[in-house]
Amino acid sequence: MAQGRVCMAADVSAVAMTPDLGAEIRGIDLSSPLSDGCFRRILDLFHRYCVVFLRDQALDPRLLARFAARFGEIDLPAGGEASIPGLPQVSVIVDSLRDPPASGRARYRLSWHSDHSSQPAPALATVLYAADCPDRGGDIEFVNMCSVFNALPREKQLFLEKLRALHGADLAPAEAALGAGTAADATPPLVEHPVVRVHRETGRKALYVAKDTVSRVLGLAAGASRKLIDELEAFATQPRFIYAHHWRKGDVLVWDNRCTLHRMRPFDQRYERTLHCIQIKGEVPIAA
Ligand SMILES: [Fe+2]
Repeated sequence: MAQGRVCMAADVSAVAMTPDLGAEIRGIDLSSPLSDGCFRRILDLFHRYCVVFLRDQALDPRLLARFAARFGEIDLPAGGEASIPGLPQVSVIVDSLRDPPASGRARYRLSWHSDHSSQPAPALATVLYAADCPDRGGDIEFVNMCSVFNALPREKQLFLEKLRALHGADLAPAEAALGAGTAADATPPLVEHPVVRVHRETGRKALYVAKDTVSRVLGLAAGASRKLIDELEAFATQPRFIYAHHWRKGDVLVWDNRCTLHRMRPFDQRYERTLHCIQIKGEVPIAA
């Protein structure tokens, strides 16, 4: 499309990466304004595929924030993260030797999780822009947790729909403490969420657990709770449910935290990657 003109719905085309997870959106230059019809088309794809991305974008952080704001109210980073000067809503993730992979934040990123699940109203969506990255390593993987829930036996679904779980375990406390404005070494309160949540826009049910961020399932003995969470994550992260996104410089990636898990894959520390990140405010999860 010609640079500078408003993007219209007719400009949008999409290529699905899998039948129900991940779609590349084509025909859009995000440095140009988007018409309402154009964004509705993007939103439809976002709801259908849970993860959408656009390649070859050249965006300064201000334009990235303009695009992100179409998805909802932008949240400020939880704290402790570097941000763009003058744009506190855009955090900067630098993967390099300066960000040791053993740090709690790095380990959190490498584990399956849904962003901010240790907070009462977890992030609705996350927008990442590959400002600079090498063409190798460090993919980000996703799972569609609605598809995972649908693949479970009916009796298991009914059992899980009745359960609630406490989030904020292992890797999550540091993140939760930052979100609560407390010191990272203080113990943050655990937050209770349904094990199965309903997506407000699509009405679909999604499994909402990950073993490194859920402390325990309420009403179950500790051993049974741990066994259930481990089993559910192992089931959810089978290769058949995963879409792995291979980063290219200029990628803009948006995912729906209400119905996906994600994790970063290990990054070759000989290279450096810079991602700009914006979180969209979410809501208290709706129980099934
Ligand atoms: Fe994340």
